[in-house]
Amino acid sequence: MRRNIMQFLRSRSGEYISGEEISRQLKVSRTAIWKHIQALRQEGYRIESHPRLGYCLREIPDRLLPDEIGMKLTTKILGKQIHYFTDVHSTNNEAKRIAMADAPEGTIVVAEAQNRGRGRMSRGWFSPFAKGIWFSVILRPPFSPAEAPKCTLMAAVAVSSAIQQVTGVACGIKWPNDILYQGKKIVGILTEMSAEIDVINYIVIGIGINVNIGQEEFPAEISGLSTSLAIEAGRKISRLDLLTAILQQLESLYTGVLANGFASVLGEWRSHSITLGQNVEVLGGTGNFTGIAVDIDNDGALLIQTGSGVEKVLAGDVSI
Ligand code: BTN
Repeated sequence: MRRNIMQFLRSRSGEYISGEEISRQLKVSRTAIWKHIQALRQEGYRIESHPRLGYCLREIPDRLLPDEIGMKLTTKILGKQIHYFTDVHSTNNEAKRIAMADAPEGTIVVAEAQNRGRGRMSRGWFSPFAKGIWFSVILRPPFSPAEAPKCTLMAAVAVSSAIQQVTGVACGIKWPNDILYQGKKIVGILTEMSAEIDVINYIVIGIGINVNIGQEEFPAEISGLSTSLAIEAGRKISRLDLLTAILQQLESLYTGVLANGFASVLGEWRSHSITLGQNVEVLGGTGNFTGIAVDIDNDGALLIQTGSGVEKVLAGDVSI
């Protein structure tokens, strides 16, 4: 009902609607309307009330509220269930917890802030309140566990395409899953999995996007390495528009992969890549080495031409 009331106010945003009319149209008591309006105000909707004129919706909050996301999405799998937090330790931790408790495929966990956001290689992830998009998606793909890294490539393609579509900022993907603009990081992706030998129980793809963070707001240790979409686009970006565009893109890539395999995702990844063709240093478990990144193979592994042949790198970091 709260959603119906909000949609009704929204359909005549900026205009007063009497309590009597809302009550008649939505078949709800005026006391119940008052309670729902109070709850909407708690969520940040600015709704004015006037004893004779009724209620008027003045402002929708800059929050990633499930109702707002749901209203924009036309997906069939992703975002059908949304777990929303104003502040959480890590959306990946929360997603893993609910995935273990049988949350359906496509469930997403979104937070306005993370107080223990996690990055790759046991690093932290700076996740200030309402300044970025910090979310995780649960997938249960019918792939073998060895194919899981390709889900990260798929997510990187979906995010960079959606960023280009919504903000006009043309980012590049640094293998395996950083999204950069002119060498500075805008997006990080942390994929985690629970699997048996031959079957994936769930994959959690955690995505962190620096959206409306000012340069001076980054902690000193990452400020020189990081940027945000607002800085690069020169304007505030709608987090809601970007999040919904990412979910649309990701679902369309994922259903494409389920139907036809990974080939087209790998092709798109190659076209967004800023790693291929570069002289890179691989910082891996088996020691560091340098070479030219020539391609990714069908598993998503990076192929490096070194003096002694082609090395295949499945995990780790590369510096360009
Ligand atoms: C990286 O190191 O580049 C990966 C960063 C991933 C950050 C995201 S934010 C949402 C999700 N929850 C986390 O704790 N981490 C990921």
